[in-house]
Amino acid sequence: MNCTTSVSVAPSRAQTDSIKAYLEGVTNSLLASLPDAANLSPSERRGIIARYTAVLEGNFIYWMTGAYLAARSEEARSIITDNLLEEVRDSHPAMLRRFVVAADALPTDTDAIAVAPDLNGVRLFIGRLSPVPILVTMAFFESWIQRFMAYLEELAMRQGSFENEYTQVHGVCDIAHSEGLFHALQAEMARASDSHESERSLYEGVHLLRALIESIFTGRSSMALAA
Ligand SMILES: [Fe+2]
Repeated sequence: MNCTTSVSVAPSRAQTDSIKAYLEGVTNSLLASLPDAANLSPSERRGIIARYTAVLEGNFIYWMTGAYLAARSEEARSIITDNLLEEVRDSHPAMLRRFVVAADALPTDTDAIAVAPDLNGVRLFIGRLSPVPILVTMAFFESWIQRFMAYLEELAMRQGSFENEYTQVHGVCDIAHSEGLFHALQAEMARASDSHESERSLYEGVHLLRALIESIFTGRSSMALAA
């Protein structure tokens, strides 16, 4: 994709559909890069679960809060509020902790260090509080998580775990969440219709998040590979 093209963020359904299609392409490519769970060693399976947890447990609510603080439209704020309410009221971090303990895959310092450089990049991006790019990033994150759950659950089951509340809630039952965030994105784009975003800035958070997800998969930072 040409990253220098300038695109209008007019509030058209066609435009959010094209963003959705782009994000689906990124998700498909990430999922296609995953090794067959049956071919992974127990240590490799544990590592993916542990690094996923190192990223999600302490950051998802924080990043969604960043999206709330950045959003300008009432509709987007209301959708994000519902999302945050569910995260906090049902304690999704506690649900994730039960999942990771049952799979005997608690993150170690090595796991935390492996994802730290790319995690930092996403944190700094969120901190800029740019409304539309954050909404694009969180819509991507929600839809990727939802589609990654079957694989994560398979890794845990192969580790001998039968605890699947977290993966069921975020996979089978969480399709509405990602749809909601696309509505929030559309509302935010309508609000920002007088501005223009380059594709580079529109997808900056998505590219940073993609690198972070790849470090969850591989245990290596994209920054270390580039060095
Ligand atoms: Fe959640």
